[in-house]
Amino acid sequence: MVSAGERARRTGSYRRYREGQNIRILVTGGAGFIGSHIIERLLDDGHEVVCLDNFDPYYDPEIKKSNIQPFLENKNFTLEVGDIRNRDTLTRLLEGTDYVFHEAAQAGVRISVEDPIKPHEVNATGTLNLLEASRDSGVKKIINASSSSVYGTVEYLPFDEDHPRRPVSPYGVSKLAAEEYCRVFSELYGLKSVSLRYFTVYGPRMRPDLAISIFTRKALANEPITIFGDGTKTRDFTNIKDIVRANLIAMQKGEGAYNIGGGHRVSIQTLAETIIETTGSSSEIRYADTVKGDAEHTFADTKKAERNLGWRPQVSLEEGLRRYAAWVSNSRS
Ligand SMILES: NC(=O)c1ccc[n+]([C@@H]2O[C@H](COP(=O)([O-])OP(=O)(O)OC[C@H]3O[C@@H](n4cnc5c(N)ncnc54)[C@H](O)[C@@H]3O)[C@@H](O)[C@H]2O)c1
Repeated sequence: MVSAGERARRTGSYRRYREGQNIRILVTGGAGFIGSHIIERLLDDGHEVVCLDNFDPYYDPEIKKSNIQPFLENKNFTLEVGDIRNRDTLTRLLEGTDYVFHEAAQAGVRISVEDPIKPHEVNATGTLNLLEASRDSGVKKIINASSSSVYGTVEYLPFDEDHPRRPVSPYGVSKLAAEEYCRVFSELYGLKSVSLRYFTVYGPRMRPDLAISIFTRKALANEPITIFGDGTKTRDFTNIKDIVRANLIAMQKGEGAYNIGGGHRVSIQTLAETIIETTGSSSEIRYADTVKGDAEHTFADTKKAERNLGWRPQVSLEEGLRRYAAWVSNSRS
């Protein structure tokens, strides 16, 4: 376990920036997968953190409760059960807030195909609400969780940040709208923001609806693994540790949009095979009809993040999958 002091040494400028300052931070969606990891790190670094989450039932809210359970006794942590669409809640919470990590969203590509309204209301309108409230409260910067889903149709790979944005799901459209609102608020009102385009994130506490979570649990139980489609779709998977590091850097550096990806592209077939191998499983692979709204390929060009943020992915997929499988096994026992 790396101490807070050691971590600060490794991110030198971050240390200078936080020394002697009492920084108050709002993390929206802080009880979710990524938000809870960001909070863990911020609390380790001694910041004052407010978590706003409505414990949406998209997946079991008990998982979200257990995500934040360890923070409840930390005097620097405050939990607010509420909705980013509620302006009064935001105005109250943002008073005296320096930075906002905006993770709250209706995540999930597939659900957005079934119900396109909710992702729009939470992701687009909710972000707009947050931006307005932040502008009026003097927030210094918003670090907005965006997504590789803003790219959609592939014109070339890997995607650099200038690749055309042509989302193939309502979810992708809603994340693109959120990003664009961030950009316009910066240009019109001077509200600083950075949008980090995450490429499929995995690691401990990950969402139960994502392939790595489902495949790993099936593999550990030696049950069949189902791939939607023929397994040739490819994804760039990003470890949660790399995501958290990018967020912390983005507090002090960078504006606009950045790809935050794992730096490798693997097919879903290879992913399933690697998980089976890593876990020593006897699971067989089965195939089902492909799902509407799923992008064919994602692959991040992360040169811009490396140039401007000094960030690049550090955790290899093999290592990350191994650590994740160990975490799932431990959390079951
Ligand atoms: N996990 C990924 O692979 C991935 C990839 C790209 C982008 N993202 C983005 O990263 C962010 C975090 O994703 P995650 O995987 O941690 O998802 P998650 O569902 O685990 O976390 C989102 C949290 O937001 C909360 N929330 C939902 N609606 C809310 C509302 N109206 N008000 C307040 N809270 C609300 C949920 O209860 C949940 O705890 C999201 O913006 C998502 O779009 C995630």
